[in-house]
Amino acid sequence: MERFVILTIVFAHLLTSLNASYYFIEKCYRDDDDIDECLKNSGNTLAAYLREPGGIPELGLEEIEPVYVDAIDIALGDTEDAYRATFTDIEAYGVSNISLARVRSDIDTYQFQLTYEIPRIKVRSSFKSSGVLLLIKASGSGDYWGEYENVRCKVYFKGLPYQKANDDRTYLSVEQVKMDFSVKDITMGVENDNNNRVIQAAMNLFINSNAQELLKEMKPALKEKFTVLLHNFMENLFSKIPFDEWVE
Ligand SMILES: *[C@@H]1O[C@H](CO)[C@@H](O)[C@H](O)[C@H]1NC(C)=O
Repeated sequence: MERFVILTIVFAHLLTSLNASYYFIEKCYRDDDDIDECLKNSGNTLAAYLREPGGIPELGLEEIEPVYVDAIDIALGDTEDAYRATFTDIEAYGVSNISLARVRSDIDTYQFQLTYEIPRIKVRSSFKSSGVLLLIKASGSGDYWGEYENVRCKVYFKGLPYQKANDDRTYLSVEQVKMDFSVKDITMGVENDNNNRVIQAAMNLFINSNAQELLKEMKPALKEKFTVLLHNFMENLFSKIPFDEWVE
């Protein structure tokens, strides 16, 4: 009997220390009426740890600022002289200030709807462009900068539970991800390598006066890119944190 008690204590300690290895989230319970609120808090705890210097090494996320994107291609319209641009070496600052504003979950079917808010994202990149924008021949290359304020992002995803060999915990793979986003205020500009200053000023005035319209045109390309990035991010996260550690 005594031996059993000791064993139980040792086992309980072992379990506690195992749990401690997921210190960056909070566990939620599926029969909790407020599970969505709990999942929201858990997501915000995770974000807070990600923001800390050093990030979360256990998840391979040591440094998330700045978020780096290799390239994004956009095209406005589909005429022959349509404006096309490729942005490369994109560095986005501020994404780690993300907060989860709302969660709607259906645990039984592993479906989630998340609403995120990011107060401000600053972006710098190089660009190359061709075609005509605002009756200006806009071929060229140079630097792009942008500031996006009050970014709101809606994410839907559906997970698929699975088990790993020699591991009795349940993990999720990401079966489907959809996302959409809006930006309340956009300020941006280009610094062309060799454009005439007057043309550059006209261009910057144009892109800032039409920022929301341009964003709308660019959205399909941006959504496609962000969805892939998000999918990879979530796949990594869910392969390292068992789902039964999030929800029991
Ligand atoms: C995150 O927000 C804080 C407070 O508003 C701000 O000081 C900080 O610069 C932001 N971080 C980044 C990387 O933009």
